Amino acid sequence: MAEKKAFRASVAHCVDDPFNVGGDALEYIEDALLVIENGKVVALGDAQALLAEPRFEQSEVVDYTGHLIVPGFVDSHLHYPQTDVIASHGSQLLEWLEKYTFPAEKCFEDEAHALEGASFFINELLRNGTTSAMIFATVHPQSVDALFAVAEKTNLRIGTGKVMMDRNCPEFLQDTPSQGYEDSQRLIDRWHGVGRLSYAVTPRFAPTSTDEQLQLAGRLFTENPGVYLQSHVAENKAEVAWVADLFPWSRSYLDVYDHYGLLGERAIYGHCIYLNESDLDRMRETGAVAAFCPTSNLFLGSGLFNLSRARELGVRTGLATDVGGGTSFSMLRTADEAYKVAQMSGNPVTPLQLFYEMTLGGASALSMQQHVGNFAVGKEADFVVLDYSATPLLERRISVANSIEEKLFALIVLGDDRCTEATYLMGEAAYNKAG
Ligand code: GUN
Ligand code: ZN
Repeated sequence: MAEKKAFRASVAHCVDDPFNVGGDALEYIEDALLVIENGKVVALGDAQALLAEPRFEQSEVVDYTGHLIVPGFVDSHLHYPQTDVIASHGSQLLEWLEKYTFPAEKCFEDEAHALEGASFFINELLRNGTTSAMIFATVHPQSVDALFAVAEKTNLRIGTGKVMMDRNCPEFLQDTPSQGYEDSQRLIDRWHGVGRLSYAVTPRFAPTSTDEQLQLAGRLFTENPGVYLQSHVAENKAEVAWVADLFPWSRSYLDVYDHYGLLGERAIYGHCIYLNESDLDRMRETGAVAAFCPTSNLFLGSGLFNLSRARELGVRTGLATDVGGGTSFSMLRTADEAYKVAQMSGNPVTPLQLFYEMTLGGASALSMQQHVGNFAVGKEADFVVLDYSATPLLERRISVANSIEEKLFALIVLGDDRCTEATYLMGEAAYNKAG
């Protein structure tokens, strides 16, 4: 007989998109039972009512009363080899890459270093309640093997890929068009579709790839249906000017990627700050996703992404930490900074819109909404148990909150990894604060 497990707590999840339907997008059950069988949701409802049903009488109940269960967080753009780069002081994007990031990435040619880095990184995601992510590795294929191996063992739902870069970076980090192509194809054959793992074709950004390499990235993307593509676009003004110099034929930075067939529903682009109207149109037409990285954009002084405007124009968006340009693994911290960026750009967002971006919206951005993002029956039971009393200040603020929206906002503004009581992947505990 299949094993049934039930979790009792308050539960909040999005059942729709609050950018379209407002408050109706949220379902909240104060005393809820979340029932899981074979790693998937079989029921969610009022605890007393469900426990009275004969089909759930035998369930083992894990009691998290007083806590809030929400869907596992989705981080749509970050770099696992940059864990040690967080908090590197003093420069904007291009200098930061040269001075801190490229040297740190060199270390991942060593398999033992890559494995240790991957284990720390995955554990950090779980400590922060993140259960799905789209992740950059380094140029070294062994860095991808290491991350996939750890993610497979832990059962996280991730995409990652070997960085492709064949110019304008230190020689020790360069591949060639043919080597980058062949290594990527080998990794796709080995890992794509294994368990919950997906491959992402990963040209770092236009300046570090020749035309030939971008063309081959396009070939990988079209020849392997179902794989993702991830890159960076329009993050920093000096970077945008550099791309205009390197690709004088292009209409815009985004147009370089468009030219090589690198846009599409499974294409995830970090930053997207300096896109013009036609670029945003192309993003909408092709279904490409803008990954909003507020802590990174503030830390590197890159600029302010306008989330509301992107959504109004029909562009798909995700929220992302961009570790290590970003300064935290926590999607709560990230949503807090997203809120402030929106305030500064004069287009405020609501707590529910932020909660959506962290959960169902993020899952939709990564085309994973069939599998994760909320607790619809049949979905994989990835969830976080949040602790309202993680800090004295949070506990105090929560005690005077009058609605679930207020509580979610207090968690976003005041919360961080201390709020993660436990993280579950397909109904199994993957992290437990209590140890
Ligand atoms: N653009 C190209 N590479 C990177 C990177 O590693 N981080 C950020 N934030 N932007 C980039
Ligand atoms: Zn990035």
